[in-house]
Amino acid sequence: MSITRLTDSNEIQANEVLVVAFAQTEDSPELLEAALPLDPSLKLQINQAIKLTNFTGKKSEVTYLTINSGVLCVGLGKIDKTIALDLETLRRAAGTASRSLVAKNSALFALPNKNLTQTNAVVMGVELGAYSFQEFKSKKDDKSNPLANARILVTDVKNNQKVFEEAQIISESVLNVRNLVNTPPSHMYPSVFADYVKKSFKRGSNVSLEILDEKALKKNGYGALIGVGQGSINPPRFIRATYKAKGAKFHLALVGKGITFDTGGISLKPPASMHTMKCDMAGAATVIETLRAIAKLELKINVTAYAALAENMPSATAQRPSDVVTTFSGKTIEVLNTDAEGRLVLADALGRAQKDKPDFIVDVATLTGAATIALGSRTAGIMSNKDEARDQVFESAKESGETMWPMQIPEEIRTVLDSKTADIANVGFTPNPAGGMMLGAAFLKEFVDEKTPWVHLDIAPPAFNEGAPYGYTNFGGTGVGVRTLVNLAQKLQNR
Ligand code: BES
Ligand code: MN
Ligand code: ZN
Repeated sequence: MSITRLTDSNEIQANEVLVVAFAQTEDSPELLEAALPLDPSLKLQINQAIKLTNFTGKKSEVTYLTINSGVLCVGLGKIDKTIALDLETLRRAAGTASRSLVAKNSALFALPNKNLTQTNAVVMGVELGAYSFQEFKSKKDDKSNPLANARILVTDVKNNQKVFEEAQIISESVLNVRNLVNTPPSHMYPSVFADYVKKSFKRGSNVSLEILDEKALKKNGYGALIGVGQGSINPPRFIRATYKAKGAKFHLALVGKGITFDTGGISLKPPASMHTMKCDMAGAATVIETLRAIAKLELKINVTAYAALAENMPSATAQRPSDVVTTFSGKTIEVLNTDAEGRLVLADALGRAQKDKPDFIVDVATLTGAATIALGSRTAGIMSNKDEARDQVFESAKESGETMWPMQIPEEIRTVLDSKTADIANVGFTPNPAGGMMLGAAFLKEFVDEKTPWVHLDIAPPAFNEGAPYGYTNFGGTGVGVRTLVNLAQKLQNR
């Protein structure tokens, strides 16, 4: 989609849909002012036409009026005018509108836009809503193309161009994550992911790359990653991508789980929970695309992204339940369940990250089905070895409109992972589903130095939307995590 910033004219072009917002009130819905006032006669027309529909203006409700070249009305729900407009409500309304404009050529978004944070929210919503994954359709169907051109009315205040461009950079990264996740495992395995990263950060870019193939992994002691990948004909990879900013002091490490497909391995998954497992590399995609956005925004912070990539397959060469692997840090793990593979590859990745002595580590992983039991299908879990670090990430999540929730890592849960054979087991010896998300975090915690603030994001619930689209979220990969982590990097820069 091409997107244009408008500050001085709200003239509607030929065949262009106008998008306006309404608030829900005690009586009829109230048409809300945009950055530039609409022509009074057009306003009158819209208000008359909306009365003939049953549109109420409730959150994300849409109605299409066939007046002029089309007017799309979107609801913001009840609004308290004494406080600032809720940004996520605005973002979702913008997204619902742009998502509804399938097959349209152009739309003029005249949504509420009084300041820079609202500009950011509208641009982000519009960009993320207009997405559909059609890469593997043999016939291009114009009727399912997302909106082609969005023209957005923004308030003419200082820095509006900067904020507009910033929102575009971040949403581009989110959409890239969606594409990576939605690409089927037949076409997305570790070496393909690595090639994508190589292409994204070509020589001369401000990001440098280190990519380890299976030989290099063996030589450097990535025993857990090798173990997970050894059942597949598509060998594992490890990526370390570094962005260094001039004068930056703070080093943020972003670690991502990159299982390009998770069958469960020998501890095979039942079919009903297997077909969405192409999303199991969402964490790796998130850290790489977060790094891309941070580098493009030239934030004053040093960031390294680590992606542990493997395909978890059952075969004659696959690892067996009860195998023992030696991780990057030297600790040994007894693999009691080959389907708890995310924590294995992350053990190596966290070990590698720790070697770079970062000031803050965040790992991102579709780690447990238990996260969905605990939090529902739209919320990620935030766990940490430091309450302050956990709260910082929670704050960033709230500001960027990504649904995440802080959870504890109870001290007593660790003993469940005691192993008779190795230093630690990857699951409890007696299967017990209690607190599975937190048990996963308790395992990971063993692979970070307790002095380093570390946050674990379990994005298993929201990484892949299996349900109906809503707001700016379509079917499939969502790209969750990028916005929170860019926000976090913005706050940690030059500290
Ligand atoms: N990739 C899965 C977790 C997952 C489930 C992600 C649903 C997205 C949606 C992970 O590797 C896994 O299989 N976890 C096991 C852990 C168990 C064996 C301790 C699970 O959740 O069942
Ligand atoms: Mn698994
Ligand atoms: Zn997995």
